[in-house]
Amino acid sequence: MGGGLGRVDAAEVKRHGRHYTPVGLAEFLAESVARNMSGLDVVRVLDPACGDGELLFAAARVVGRLWAGVAVELTGYDLDGEAVRLAEKRARESGLGGSWHEGDFIVEAAGLEPDSFDVIITNPPYVRTQQLGAEAARVLAGGFNLVGRIDLTHPFVGSFPRLLRAGGVMGLLCSNRFLSTRAGANVRSLFDGDLHPIELYDLGDTRLFSAAVLPAIVIASRTESSGRCRFATAYRDEGAVVTSDVSLFEALRADADSVIEHGGKAVAVQVGELADRADSTEPWRLRRRGDWLERVNAATWRTFGQVAKIRVGIKTTADAVFIREEWDGVEPELVLPLVTHEDVQAWRVGTPRASVLYPYDLGRDRRTLLDMAEYPGAMAYLNSHAERLKGRKYVRDAGREWYEIWVPQRPGRWVGAKIVFPDISERGRFAYDRSGAVVNGDCYWISVADIGDERVAYLMLGVANSALGLRFYDEVCGNRLYSGRRRWITQYVQRFPLPDPETAAAAELVEAVRELVAGGGAAEVIDRLVEKAFGLS
Ligand SMILES: C[S@@+](CC[C@H](N)C(=O)[O-])C[C@H]1O[C@@H](n2cnc3c(N)ncnc32)[C@H](O)[C@@H]1O
Repeated sequence: MGGGLGRVDAAEVKRHGRHYTPVGLAEFLAESVARNMSGLDVVRVLDPACGDGELLFAAARVVGRLWAGVAVELTGYDLDGEAVRLAEKRARESGLGGSWHEGDFIVEAAGLEPDSFDVIITNPPYVRTQQLGAEAARVLAGGFNLVGRIDLTHPFVGSFPRLLRAGGVMGLLCSNRFLSTRAGANVRSLFDGDLHPIELYDLGDTRLFSAAVLPAIVIASRTESSGRCRFATAYRDEGAVVTSDVSLFEALRADADSVIEHGGKAVAVQVGELADRADSTEPWRLRRRGDWLERVNAATWRTFGQVAKIRVGIKTTADAVFIREEWDGVEPELVLPLVTHEDVQAWRVGTPRASVLYPYDLGRDRRTLLDMAEYPGAMAYLNSHAERLKGRKYVRDAGREWYEIWVPQRPGRWVGAKIVFPDISERGRFAYDRSGAVVNGDCYWISVADIGDERVAYLMLGVANSALGLRFYDEVCGNRLYSGRRRWITQYVQRFPLPDPETAAAAELVEAVRELVAGGGAAEVIDRLVEKAFGLS
Protein backbone atom coordinates (compact mmCIF):
# COMPACT_ATOMS: atom_id res chain seq x y z
CA MET A 1 0.00 0.00 0.00
CA GLY A 2 1.31 3.40 -0.84
CA GLY A 3 -0.08 6.82 -0.19
CA GLY A 4 -0.08 9.09 2.80
CA LEU A 5 1.94 12.18 3.46
CA GLY A 6 5.58 11.63 3.90
CA ARG A 7 9.10 12.44 4.94
CA VAL A 8 11.13 14.65 2.67
CA ASP A 9 14.10 12.31 2.76
CA ALA A 10 13.83 10.07 -0.32
CA ALA A 11 15.99 7.37 1.27
CA GLU A 12 13.59 7.21 4.21
CA VAL A 13 10.60 6.85 1.91
CA LYS A 14 12.39 4.09 0.05
CA ARG A 15 13.40 2.32 3.22
CA HIS A 16 9.83 2.19 4.48
CA GLY A 17 8.28 1.85 1.06
CA ARG A 18 5.79 4.60 1.97
CA HIS A 19 5.51 8.20 3.01
CA TYR A 20 6.08 8.74 6.71
CA THR A 21 5.64 12.07 8.49
CA PRO A 22 8.78 14.24 8.68
CA VAL A 23 9.94 14.73 12.28
CA GLY A 24 9.40 18.53 12.39
CA LEU A 25 5.83 18.18 11.22
CA ALA A 26 5.19 15.25 13.56
CA GLU A 27 6.24 17.53 16.45
CA PHE A 28 4.04 20.36 15.22
CA LEU A 29 1.06 18.02 15.00
CA ALA A 30 1.80 16.51 18.43
CA GLU A 31 2.16 19.97 19.97
CA SER A 32 -1.15 21.11 18.47
CA VAL A 33 -2.81 18.10 20.06
CA ALA A 34 -1.06 18.32 23.44
CA ARG A 35 -1.87 21.96 24.04
CA ASN A 36 -5.57 21.16 23.65
CA MET A 37 -5.53 18.26 26.12
CA SER A 38 -6.98 18.62 29.54
CA GLY A 39 -5.06 17.66 32.70
CA LEU A 40 -4.74 13.90 33.16
CA ASP A 41 -2.36 11.57 34.93
CA VAL A 42 -2.10 9.07 32.12
CA VAL A 43 -2.78 9.82 28.49
CA ARG A 44 -3.77 6.90 26.26
CA VAL A 45 -2.57 7.70 22.73
CA LEU A 46 -3.53 5.77 19.59
CA ASP A 47 -2.06 5.87 16.08
CA PRO A 48 -4.14 3.48 13.96
CA ALA A 49 -1.62 3.57 11.07
CA CYS A 50 1.58 4.05 13.04
CA GLY A 51 4.28 2.99 10.56
CA ASP A 52 7.57 3.16 12.50
CA GLY A 53 5.78 5.00 15.32
CA GLU A 54 7.05 8.53 14.74
CA LEU A 55 3.79 10.30 15.58
CA LEU A 56 3.39 8.37 18.82
CA PHE A 57 6.97 9.13 19.84
CA ALA A 58 6.48 12.79 18.98
CA ALA A 59 3.34 12.78 21.16
CA ALA A 60 5.30 11.23 24.04
CA ARG A 61 8.09 13.82 23.73
CA VAL A 62 5.70 16.78 23.55
CA VAL A 63 3.45 15.61 26.39
CA GLY A 64 6.60 15.15 28.48
CA ARG A 65 7.63 18.72 27.68
CA LEU A 66 4.24 20.45 28.13
CA TRP A 67 2.63 18.36 30.88
CA ALA A 68 5.09 17.62 33.67
CA GLY A 69 4.39 14.35 35.49
CA VAL A 70 1.87 13.07 32.92
CA ALA A 71 2.56 9.54 31.63
CA VAL A 72 1.71 8.27 28.15
CA GLU A 73 0.43 4.86 27.07
CA LEU A 74 1.09 4.34 23.39
CA THR A 75 -0.96 2.08 21.12
CA GLY A 76 0.00 1.55 17.50
CA TYR A 77 -1.59 -0.44 14.68
CA ASP A 78 -0.28 -0.96 11.17
CA LEU A 79 -0.88 -3.36 8.32
CA ASP A 80 2.86 -3.59 7.84
CA GLY A 81 4.31 -6.11 10.32
CA GLU A 82 7.88 -5.03 9.71
CA ALA A 83 7.02 -1.41 10.50
CA VAL A 84 5.18 -2.43 13.68
CA ARG A 85 8.19 -4.44 14.86
CA LEU A 86 10.46 -1.48 14.17
CA ALA A 87 8.13 0.80 16.14
CA GLU A 88 8.07 -1.66 19.03
CA LYS A 89 11.87 -1.85 19.01
CA ARG A 90 12.17 1.94 19.04
CA ALA A 91 9.67 2.12 21.92
CA ARG A 92 11.58 -0.48 23.92
CA GLU A 93 14.89 1.26 23.34
CA SER A 94 13.54 4.57 24.59
CA GLY A 95 11.82 2.98 27.57
CA LEU A 96 8.32 3.82 26.36
CA GLY A 97 6.82 0.36 26.07
CA GLY A 98 3.33 0.56 24.63
CA SER A 99 1.14 -1.87 22.79
CA TRP A 100 1.84 -2.61 19.13
CA HIS A 101 -0.35 -4.51 16.71
CA GLU A 102 -0.04 -5.75 13.17
CA GLY A 103 -3.45 -5.56 11.54
CA ASP A 104 -5.94 -3.79 9.32
CA PHE A 105 -7.28 -1.02 11.52
CA ILE A 106 -10.54 -0.75 9.61
CA VAL A 107 -11.27 -4.27 10.80
CA GLU A 108 -9.59 -4.00 14.23
CA ALA A 109 -11.43 -0.80 15.20
CA ALA A 110 -14.72 -2.67 15.60
CA GLY A 111 -13.19 -4.86 18.34
CA LEU A 112 -11.98 -1.94 20.46
CA GLU A 113 -13.97 -0.68 23.44
CA PRO A 114 -15.65 2.72 23.09
CA ASP A 115 -13.84 5.64 24.80
CA SER A 116 -10.54 3.72 24.81
CA PHE A 117 -8.28 6.68 24.05
CA ASP A 118 -7.61 10.23 25.24
CA VAL A 119 -5.69 11.16 22.10
CA ILE A 120 -5.65 9.88 18.52
CA ILE A 121 -2.81 11.15 16.39
CA THR A 122 -2.49 9.93 12.83
CA ASN A 123 -1.41 10.33 9.22
CA PRO A 124 -3.68 7.66 7.77
CA PRO A 125 -2.97 6.09 4.39
CA TYR A 126 -4.20 8.24 1.54
CA VAL A 127 -5.28 5.62 -0.93
CA ARG A 128 -7.82 6.60 -3.55
CA THR A 129 -10.78 4.56 -4.69
CA GLN A 130 -9.02 3.74 -7.96
CA GLN A 131 -6.24 2.04 -6.03
CA LEU A 132 -8.61 0.40 -3.56
CA GLY A 133 -10.48 -1.46 -6.29
CA ALA A 134 -14.20 -1.11 -6.95
CA GLU A 135 -15.29 -3.89 -4.57
CA ALA A 136 -13.34 -2.60 -1.54
CA ALA A 137 -14.56 0.93 -2.27
CA ARG A 138 -18.16 -0.26 -2.45
CA VAL A 139 -17.91 -2.13 0.86
CA LEU A 140 -16.33 0.87 2.57
CA ALA A 141 -18.86 3.27 1.11
CA GLY A 142 -21.72 1.09 2.35
CA GLY A 143 -20.23 0.48 5.80
CA PHE A 144 -19.42 4.12 6.46
CA ASN A 145 -22.24 5.90 4.65
CA LEU A 146 -19.94 7.56 2.16
CA VAL A 147 -20.86 9.03 -1.20
CA GLY A 148 -18.80 9.85 -4.29
CA ARG A 149 -15.06 9.44 -4.50
CA ILE A 150 -13.56 8.19 -1.27
CA ASP A 151 -10.12 7.45 0.12
CA LEU A 152 -9.03 5.70 3.31
CA THR A 153 -9.07 8.92 5.34
CA HIS A 154 -12.85 8.53 5.59
CA PRO A 155 -13.13 5.11 7.24
CA PHE A 156 -10.21 5.85 9.55
CA VAL A 157 -11.61 9.13 10.84
CA GLY A 158 -15.11 7.64 10.88
CA SER A 159 -14.08 5.27 13.66
CA PHE A 160 -12.60 7.99 15.89
CA PRO A 161 -15.68 9.50 17.58
CA ARG A 162 -16.47 6.11 19.13
CA LEU A 163 -12.90 5.41 20.22
CA LEU A 164 -12.15 8.81 21.75
CA ARG A 165 -13.42 9.50 25.24
CA ALA A 166 -15.49 12.65 25.78
CA GLY A 167 -13.05 15.57 25.91
CA GLY A 168 -10.43 13.56 24.00
CA VAL A 169 -8.40 15.18 21.21
CA MET A 170 -7.68 14.04 17.67
CA GLY A 171 -4.75 15.24 15.52
CA LEU A 172 -5.14 14.29 11.86
CA LEU A 173 -2.65 14.87 9.08
CA CYS A 174 -4.21 14.25 5.67
CA SER A 175 -4.56 15.58 2.15
CA ASN A 176 -5.97 19.12 2.04
CA ARG A 177 -8.37 18.09 -0.73
CA PHE A 178 -11.16 17.35 1.72
CA LEU A 179 -11.32 21.05 2.68
CA SER A 180 -12.64 22.11 -0.69
CA THR A 181 -13.74 19.18 -2.86
CA ARG A 182 -17.23 17.83 -3.25
CA ALA A 183 -16.16 14.31 -2.18
CA GLY A 184 -14.53 15.98 0.85
CA ALA A 185 -18.05 16.43 2.26
CA ASN A 186 -17.72 12.83 3.54
CA VAL A 187 -14.83 13.84 5.81
CA ARG A 188 -16.23 17.30 6.60
CA SER A 189 -19.47 15.72 7.78
CA LEU A 190 -17.55 13.64 10.35
CA PHE A 191 -16.84 16.93 12.09
CA ASP A 192 -20.51 17.90 12.29
CA GLY A 193 -21.26 15.23 14.89
CA ASP A 194 -19.53 15.02 18.26
CA LEU A 195 -16.02 15.58 16.92
CA HIS A 196 -15.48 19.34 16.58
CA PRO A 197 -12.54 21.00 14.84
CA ILE A 198 -10.60 23.39 17.08
CA GLU A 199 -7.50 24.08 15.01
CA LEU A 200 -7.07 23.75 11.26
CA TYR A 201 -3.99 24.17 9.07
CA ASP A 202 -3.83 24.10 5.28
CA LEU A 203 -0.12 23.66 4.56
CA GLY A 204 -0.67 24.12 0.83
CA ASP A 205 2.27 23.95 -1.55
CA THR A 206 4.89 24.60 1.14
CA ARG A 207 6.50 21.28 0.18
CA LEU A 208 6.72 19.93 3.68
CA PHE A 209 6.46 16.53 2.01
CA SER A 210 7.77 14.74 -0.99
CA ALA A 211 4.39 13.07 -1.45
CA ALA A 212 2.19 14.34 -4.27
CA VAL A 213 -0.66 15.45 -2.00
CA LEU A 214 -0.80 18.82 -0.29
CA PRO A 215 -1.17 18.40 3.46
CA ALA A 216 -3.67 19.67 6.00
CA ILE A 217 -3.91 19.23 9.76
CA VAL A 218 -7.15 19.02 11.71
CA ILE A 219 -7.18 19.14 15.49
CA ALA A 220 -10.60 18.21 16.85
CA SER A 221 -12.02 17.39 20.22
CA ARG A 222 -14.89 15.16 21.24
CA THR A 223 -17.23 17.61 22.78
CA GLU A 224 -20.96 18.16 22.67
CA SER A 225 -20.91 21.67 21.32
CA SER A 226 -18.76 23.32 18.73
CA GLY A 227 -16.87 26.54 19.33
CA ARG A 228 -14.60 28.65 17.19
CA CYS A 229 -11.95 26.85 15.14
CA ARG A 230 -8.68 28.67 14.47
CA PHE A 231 -7.59 28.30 10.83
CA ALA A 232 -4.18 29.09 9.28
CA THR A 233 -3.09 28.55 5.68
CA ALA A 234 0.35 28.67 4.07
CA TYR A 235 0.91 28.97 0.33
CA ARG A 236 3.85 30.06 -1.75
CA ASP A 237 3.48 33.57 -3.12
CA GLU A 238 6.28 34.46 -5.46
CA GLY A 239 5.48 38.15 -5.71
CA ALA A 240 5.14 38.73 -1.95
CA VAL A 241 7.64 40.63 0.19
CA VAL A 242 8.92 38.75 3.25
CA THR A 243 7.65 40.48 6.41
CA SER A 244 8.89 38.19 9.18
CA ASP A 245 11.89 35.96 9.85
CA VAL A 246 10.10 33.36 11.98
CA SER A 247 9.84 29.70 10.91
CA LEU A 248 6.84 28.36 9.04
CA PHE A 249 5.59 26.57 12.15
CA GLU A 250 5.91 29.72 14.27
CA ALA A 251 4.10 31.76 11.62
CA LEU A 252 1.24 29.21 11.61
CA ARG A 253 0.78 29.79 15.35
CA ALA A 254 1.04 33.59 15.20
CA ASP A 255 -1.88 35.99 15.68
CA ALA A 256 -1.43 37.90 12.45
CA ASP A 257 -0.84 37.22 8.76
CA SER A 258 2.77 37.20 7.61
CA VAL A 259 5.00 36.45 4.66
CA ILE A 260 7.97 34.30 5.61
CA GLU A 261 10.76 32.54 3.79
CA HIS A 262 10.52 28.77 3.68
CA GLY A 263 12.53 26.45 1.45
CA GLY A 264 14.01 29.49 -0.30
CA LYS A 265 10.55 30.78 -1.33
CA ALA A 266 8.23 33.48 -0.01
CA VAL A 267 5.27 31.84 1.72
CA ALA A 268 2.15 33.80 2.67
CA VAL A 269 0.65 32.66 5.96
CA GLN A 270 -2.94 33.73 6.62
CA VAL A 271 -4.52 33.43 10.00
CA GLY A 272 -8.21 33.53 10.88
CA GLU A 273 -11.10 31.28 11.73
CA LEU A 274 -13.01 28.51 10.04
CA ALA A 275 -15.99 30.35 8.57
CA ASP A 276 -19.52 29.31 9.53
CA ARG A 277 -21.05 26.88 7.09
CA ALA A 278 -24.65 25.81 6.55
CA ASP A 279 -23.79 22.11 6.13
CA SER A 280 -21.00 19.76 5.07
CA THR A 281 -21.59 20.35 1.34
CA GLU A 282 -19.96 23.77 1.76
CA PRO A 283 -16.15 23.90 1.53
CA TRP A 284 -14.24 24.86 4.64
CA ARG A 285 -12.90 28.35 4.16
CA LEU A 286 -10.85 30.73 6.15
CA ARG A 287 -12.50 33.85 7.48
CA ARG A 288 -9.98 36.56 8.12
CA ARG A 289 -10.11 39.20 10.73
CA GLY A 290 -12.01 42.41 9.92
CA ASP A 291 -13.98 40.41 7.53
CA TRP A 292 -13.45 41.56 3.99
CA LEU A 293 -15.66 38.77 2.69
CA GLU A 294 -18.65 39.92 4.69
CA ARG A 295 -18.33 43.35 3.08
CA VAL A 296 -18.09 41.81 -0.39
CA ASN A 297 -21.11 39.62 0.29
CA ALA A 298 -23.08 42.59 1.59
CA ALA A 299 -22.36 44.47 -1.66
CA THR A 300 -23.15 41.51 -3.91
CA TRP A 301 -26.11 42.09 -6.23
CA ARG A 302 -26.10 38.57 -7.81
CA THR A 303 -23.61 35.74 -8.18
CA PHE A 304 -22.29 34.50 -11.54
CA GLY A 305 -24.34 31.33 -11.14
CA GLN A 306 -27.50 33.38 -10.63
CA VAL A 307 -27.15 35.34 -13.87
CA ALA A 308 -26.21 32.55 -16.28
CA LYS A 309 -25.41 28.92 -16.82
CA ILE A 310 -21.71 28.09 -16.77
CA ARG A 311 -20.93 25.32 -19.24
CA VAL A 312 -17.86 23.27 -19.93
CA GLY A 313 -16.65 23.15 -23.56
CA ILE A 314 -17.11 20.29 -26.02
CA LYS A 315 -15.76 16.79 -25.49
CA THR A 316 -15.17 14.82 -28.68
CA THR A 317 -13.65 11.69 -27.02
CA ALA A 318 -11.65 11.37 -30.27
CA ASP A 319 -9.69 14.63 -30.40
CA ALA A 320 -7.13 13.28 -32.88
CA VAL A 321 -9.94 12.82 -35.41
CA PHE A 322 -12.14 15.86 -34.73
CA ILE A 323 -9.54 18.48 -33.85
CA ARG A 324 -6.84 19.50 -36.34
CA GLU A 325 -5.01 22.49 -37.70
CA GLU A 326 -5.39 21.54 -41.40
CA TRP A 327 -8.46 20.12 -43.11
CA ASP A 328 -7.93 19.02 -46.71
CA GLY A 329 -11.01 18.00 -48.60
CA VAL A 330 -13.52 18.66 -45.79
CA GLU A 331 -16.29 21.16 -46.55
CA PRO A 332 -15.18 24.41 -44.81
CA GLU A 333 -18.66 25.17 -43.44
CA LEU A 334 -18.31 22.13 -41.13
CA VAL A 335 -14.95 23.26 -39.77
CA LEU A 336 -15.17 25.80 -36.94
CA PRO A 337 -12.36 27.55 -35.06
CA LEU A 338 -11.80 25.93 -31.65
CA VAL A 339 -10.74 27.93 -28.61
CA THR A 340 -8.50 25.94 -26.23
CA HIS A 341 -6.88 27.04 -22.97
CA GLU A 342 -3.79 28.17 -24.88
CA ASP A 343 -5.79 30.79 -26.79
CA VAL A 344 -7.46 32.45 -23.82
CA GLN A 345 -5.93 35.50 -22.16
CA ALA A 346 -7.57 37.86 -19.72
CA TRP A 347 -10.10 40.00 -21.69
CA ARG A 348 -9.50 38.56 -25.20
CA VAL A 349 -9.20 35.32 -27.09
CA GLY A 350 -6.31 35.01 -29.54
CA THR A 351 -6.71 33.47 -32.98
CA PRO A 352 -7.32 29.78 -32.37
CA ARG A 353 -4.77 27.49 -33.98
CA ALA A 354 -6.96 24.43 -34.01
CA SER A 355 -10.35 23.84 -35.55
CA VAL A 356 -13.02 21.24 -35.06
CA LEU A 357 -15.10 19.19 -37.47
CA TYR A 358 -18.51 20.01 -36.03
CA PRO A 359 -21.35 18.25 -37.87
CA TYR A 360 -24.30 20.01 -36.20
CA ASP A 361 -26.82 22.59 -37.32
CA LEU A 362 -25.64 25.95 -36.00
CA GLY A 363 -29.11 27.36 -36.48
CA ARG A 364 -30.54 25.19 -33.70
CA ASP A 365 -29.95 25.39 -30.00
CA ARG A 366 -30.52 21.66 -29.46
CA ARG A 367 -28.07 19.15 -30.90
CA THR A 368 -29.25 18.50 -34.47
CA LEU A 369 -26.98 16.44 -36.69
CA LEU A 370 -26.56 17.71 -40.26
CA ASP A 371 -27.49 15.50 -43.19
CA MET A 372 -24.02 14.22 -43.92
CA ALA A 373 -25.01 13.03 -47.42
CA GLU A 374 -24.64 16.70 -48.33
CA TYR A 375 -21.02 16.76 -47.14
CA PRO A 376 -19.20 13.98 -49.02
CA GLY A 377 -15.75 15.41 -48.20
CA ALA A 378 -16.37 15.37 -44.44
CA MET A 379 -18.02 11.95 -44.63
CA ALA A 380 -15.06 10.51 -46.58
CA TYR A 381 -12.74 11.90 -43.90
CA LEU A 382 -14.85 10.43 -41.06
CA ASN A 383 -15.03 7.08 -42.87
CA SER A 384 -11.25 7.00 -43.07
CA HIS A 385 -11.31 7.04 -39.23
CA ALA A 386 -14.34 4.80 -38.88
CA GLU A 387 -12.58 2.13 -36.87
CA ARG A 388 -11.39 4.60 -34.23
CA LEU A 389 -14.77 6.35 -34.05
CA LYS A 390 -16.87 3.20 -33.95
CA GLY A 391 -14.69 1.96 -31.09
CA ARG A 392 -16.55 4.51 -28.93
CA LYS A 393 -19.25 2.03 -28.03
CA TYR A 394 -20.96 4.43 -25.61
CA VAL A 395 -21.76 6.78 -28.52
CA ARG A 396 -23.70 4.03 -30.30
CA ASP A 397 -25.26 2.83 -27.04
CA ALA A 398 -26.60 6.33 -26.48
CA GLY A 399 -28.44 6.08 -29.81
CA ARG A 400 -26.09 8.47 -31.57
CA GLU A 401 -24.32 8.20 -34.93
CA TRP A 402 -20.80 6.77 -34.76
CA TYR A 403 -19.28 9.96 -36.22
CA GLU A 404 -20.74 12.29 -33.61
CA ILE A 405 -18.93 14.40 -31.05
CA TRP A 406 -19.68 12.99 -27.58
CA VAL A 407 -20.61 16.31 -25.92
CA PRO A 408 -21.22 18.94 -28.63
CA GLN A 409 -22.95 21.41 -26.25
CA ARG A 410 -25.42 23.93 -27.73
CA PRO A 411 -24.73 24.43 -31.48
CA GLY A 412 -26.84 27.58 -31.68
CA ARG A 413 -24.91 29.33 -28.92
CA TRP A 414 -21.50 29.34 -30.59
CA VAL A 415 -22.30 32.14 -33.02
CA GLY A 416 -23.23 34.68 -30.35
CA ALA A 417 -20.89 36.42 -27.90
CA LYS A 418 -19.58 34.45 -24.93
CA ILE A 419 -17.30 34.58 -21.95
CA VAL A 420 -14.56 31.92 -22.04
CA PHE A 421 -12.05 30.87 -19.39
CA PRO A 422 -9.57 28.00 -19.02
CA ASP A 423 -10.29 25.34 -16.37
CA ILE A 424 -6.85 25.75 -14.78
CA SER A 425 -4.90 28.99 -14.47
CA GLU A 426 -2.98 30.92 -11.85
CA ARG A 427 -5.42 33.81 -11.82
CA GLY A 428 -8.67 34.63 -13.56
CA ARG A 429 -8.22 34.49 -17.35
CA PHE A 430 -11.72 35.40 -18.46
CA ALA A 431 -12.10 36.57 -22.06
CA TYR A 432 -14.92 37.97 -24.17
CA ASP A 433 -15.29 36.19 -27.50
CA ARG A 434 -17.33 37.33 -30.48
CA SER A 435 -15.61 35.13 -33.08
CA GLY A 436 -18.26 32.39 -33.15
CA ALA A 437 -15.61 29.82 -32.24
CA VAL A 438 -16.43 26.56 -30.50
CA VAL A 439 -14.97 26.14 -26.99
CA ASN A 440 -12.94 23.06 -26.13
CA GLY A 441 -13.41 20.91 -23.02
CA ASP A 442 -10.37 22.42 -21.28
CA CYS A 443 -12.31 25.69 -20.96
CA TYR A 444 -15.67 26.82 -19.60
CA TRP A 445 -18.00 29.33 -21.26
CA ILE A 446 -21.00 31.49 -20.55
CA SER A 447 -23.31 32.59 -23.34
CA VAL A 448 -23.94 36.35 -23.24
CA ALA A 449 -27.45 35.63 -24.61
CA ASP A 450 -28.08 33.66 -21.39
CA ILE A 451 -27.00 36.64 -19.30
CA GLY A 452 -29.27 38.90 -21.32
CA ASP A 453 -27.34 42.10 -20.57
CA GLU A 454 -23.95 42.83 -22.10
CA ARG A 455 -23.05 45.17 -19.22
CA VAL A 456 -23.34 42.29 -16.77
CA ALA A 457 -21.04 40.21 -18.97
CA TYR A 458 -18.40 42.97 -18.79
CA LEU A 459 -18.83 43.20 -15.02
CA MET A 460 -18.25 39.45 -14.78
CA LEU A 461 -15.00 39.80 -16.72
CA GLY A 462 -13.87 42.71 -14.55
CA VAL A 463 -14.54 40.88 -11.29
CA ALA A 464 -13.10 37.52 -12.37
CA ASN A 465 -9.86 39.03 -13.72
CA SER A 466 -9.30 41.36 -10.74
CA ALA A 467 -7.32 41.08 -7.51
CA LEU A 468 -10.67 41.01 -5.69
CA GLY A 469 -11.71 38.00 -7.79
CA LEU A 470 -8.51 36.19 -6.91
CA ARG A 471 -8.90 36.88 -3.21
CA PHE A 472 -12.52 35.81 -3.37
CA TYR A 473 -11.46 32.58 -5.04
CA ASP A 474 -8.90 31.84 -2.32
CA GLU A 475 -11.22 32.64 0.55
CA VAL A 476 -14.37 30.97 -0.76
CA CYS A 477 -13.33 28.25 -3.20
CA GLY A 478 -9.77 27.64 -2.08
CA ASN A 479 -8.88 24.76 -4.39
CA ARG A 480 -5.22 25.54 -4.94
CA LEU A 481 -2.99 23.19 -6.89
CA TYR A 482 0.79 23.19 -7.21
CA SER A 483 2.70 26.33 -8.28
CA GLY A 484 -0.11 28.76 -7.58
CA ARG A 485 -2.45 27.21 -10.12
CA ARG A 486 -6.16 27.25 -9.40
CA ARG A 487 -9.02 25.22 -10.77
CA TRP A 488 -11.82 27.34 -12.28
CA ILE A 489 -14.84 25.11 -12.58
CA THR A 490 -18.59 25.73 -12.48
CA GLN A 491 -18.85 24.75 -8.82
CA TYR A 492 -16.50 27.62 -7.86
CA VAL A 493 -17.11 30.23 -10.53
CA GLN A 494 -20.86 30.20 -9.90
CA ARG A 495 -20.23 31.67 -6.44
CA PHE A 496 -18.38 34.72 -7.75
CA PRO A 497 -19.99 38.06 -6.79
CA LEU A 498 -21.34 40.80 -9.02
CA PRO A 499 -21.86 44.41 -7.94
CA ASP A 500 -25.10 46.20 -8.76
CA PRO A 501 -24.82 47.17 -12.47
CA GLU A 502 -27.00 50.26 -11.96
CA THR A 503 -24.44 52.23 -9.93
CA ALA A 504 -22.10 54.85 -11.41
CA ALA A 505 -19.07 52.88 -10.21
CA ALA A 506 -20.28 49.76 -12.01
CA ALA A 507 -20.86 51.78 -15.18
CA GLU A 508 -17.28 53.04 -14.98
CA LEU A 509 -16.03 49.46 -14.63
CA VAL A 510 -18.15 48.32 -17.59
CA GLU A 511 -16.58 51.01 -19.81
CA ALA A 512 -13.03 50.10 -18.72
CA VAL A 513 -13.64 46.40 -19.46
CA ARG A 514 -15.28 47.22 -22.80
CA GLU A 515 -12.09 49.06 -23.84
CA LEU A 516 -9.85 46.18 -22.77
CA VAL A 517 -11.97 43.72 -24.70
CA ALA A 518 -11.68 45.97 -27.76
CA GLY A 519 -7.89 45.87 -27.45
CA GLY A 520 -7.33 49.27 -25.81
CA GLY A 521 -7.46 50.59 -22.26
CA ALA A 522 -5.29 49.77 -19.26
CA ALA A 523 -5.73 46.64 -17.13
CA GLU A 524 -4.13 48.42 -14.13
CA VAL A 525 -7.27 50.47 -13.46
CA ILE A 526 -9.47 47.40 -13.10
CA ASP A 527 -8.55 46.40 -9.54
CA ARG A 528 -9.41 49.87 -8.25
CA LEU A 529 -12.66 50.06 -10.21
CA VAL A 530 -13.79 46.63 -8.99
CA GLU A 531 -13.11 47.64 -5.38
CA LYS A 532 -15.10 50.82 -5.96
CA ALA A 533 -18.01 48.93 -7.52
CA PHE A 534 -18.24 46.84 -4.32
CA GLY A 535 -17.98 49.99 -2.19
CA LEU A 536 -14.67 48.87 -0.68
CA SER A 537 -12.63 51.97 -1.48
C1 LIG B 1 1.23 7.64 5.66
S1 LIG B 1 1.82 6.28 6.58
C2 LIG B 1 1.92 6.99 8.19
C3 LIG B 1 2.85 6.30 9.09
C4 LIG B 1 3.17 6.99 10.41
N1 LIG B 1 1.98 7.17 11.25
C5 LIG B 1 3.84 8.32 10.18
O1 LIG B 1 3.11 9.33 10.22
O2 LIG B 1 5.04 8.39 9.92
C6 LIG B 1 0.41 5.30 6.55
C7 LIG B 1 0.57 3.97 7.20
O3 LIG B 1 -0.68 3.31 7.13
C8 LIG B 1 -0.46 1.93 7.04
N2 LIG B 1 -1.71 1.31 6.61
C9 LIG B 1 -2.26 1.27 5.38
N3 LIG B 1 -3.48 0.70 5.42
C10 LIG B 1 -3.72 0.37 6.72
C11 LIG B 1 -4.80 -0.25 7.39
N4 LIG B 1 -5.88 -0.64 6.73
N5 LIG B 1 -4.70 -0.43 8.73
C12 LIG B 1 -3.59 -0.03 9.39
N6 LIG B 1 -2.54 0.56 8.80
C13 LIG B 1 -2.60 0.76 7.48
C14 LIG B 1 0.72 1.83 6.10
O4 LIG B 1 1.39 0.59 6.27
C15 LIG B 1 1.56 3.04 6.55
O5 LIG B 1 2.51 2.67 7.52
